[in-house]
Amino acid sequence: MDTLSTFSLWTFVLCMDFVKGYSQEAPTKQIVALLGDDVVLPCFLKSPVDTSNLQLEWARTDLTPGFIYVRGKLEENLELKQPSYVGRTSLSFDKLKHGDVSLTLFKVKLSDEGPYRCLIPQLGQRSYVHLIVGSASTPVIKVMSNVSSRVVLQCESAGWYPEPELLWLDGEGNLLSAGPTETLRGPDDLYTVSSRVTVEKRHSNNITCRVQQRNTNQSRETHVHGTNH
Ligand SMILES: *[C@@H]1O[C@H](CO)[C@@H](O)[C@H](O)[C@H]1NC(C)=O
Ligand SMILES: *[C@@H]1O[C@H](CO)[C@@H](O)[C@H](O)[C@H]1NC(C)=O
Ligand SMILES: *[C@@H]1O[C@H](CO)[C@@H](O)[C@H](O)[C@H]1NC(C)=O
Repeated sequence: MDTLSTFSLWTFVLCMDFVKGYSQEAPTKQIVALLGDDVVLPCFLKSPVDTSNLQLEWARTDLTPGFIYVRGKLEENLELKQPSYVGRTSLSFDKLKHGDVSLTLFKVKLSDEGPYRCLIPQLGQRSYVHLIVGSASTPVIKVMSNVSSRVVLQCESAGWYPEPELLWLDGEGNLLSAGPTETLRGPDDLYTVSSRVTVEKRHSNNITCRVQQRNTNQSRETHVHGTNH
């Protein structure tokens, strides 16, 4: 082997080592919170050491400077704190004593969605959390017309985030073919979805409108009866 390829091999081995060491860090954890709820962003040290008098930082890694909680020896340093997080963060002193640096974020907003990092500089320990924010609400079914053999139903659900999908199901859980889903986005960034379906009365007695959102794993549904008299 010539010098150059020996060198390359060494570089490769060193890189592999670096990658391996790096990947020993816990992978980014995804946390889902609903709008207005309180959420705990987890951060645990590898060993339960007392961190109650260590410096620590929580930051949004997509904002500069993205500090949302910075603590010196004993108290929070508010100077660098992102304004939208003021008054909405809390750490438990008792938990810090046992290596639990989890941060509670109150009254989650849509703008809180993003990547977060927890860092204890003196220990060189950090961990990452990605917060996903969702919003959901129960749909409402209205009978638009009910004559002879057919019923026309409308389902509407307001206050969703991100954009959900709307499904109509019959009593056996089969998908019904319906009109297109109309989607509106309000000034508050929340989505309203609605759709109409025409049902032959002799076919089904229990119709379900289900609204669901996969990223946030939210699903809400409403049933209507009396379509087969
Ligand atoms: C209607 O269907 C839904 C699920 O498809 C079920 O949860 C509900 O109990 C049913 N209602 C009646 C009265 O059968
Ligand atoms: C999604 O929600 C269902 C019902 O609420 C729950 O059983 C399931 O564990 C959730 N899945 C994930 C990945 O959070
Ligand atoms: C449609 O009208 C019939 C007869 O008045 C009634 O029994 C039934 O419940 C109605 N269906 C719905 C979905 O309102």
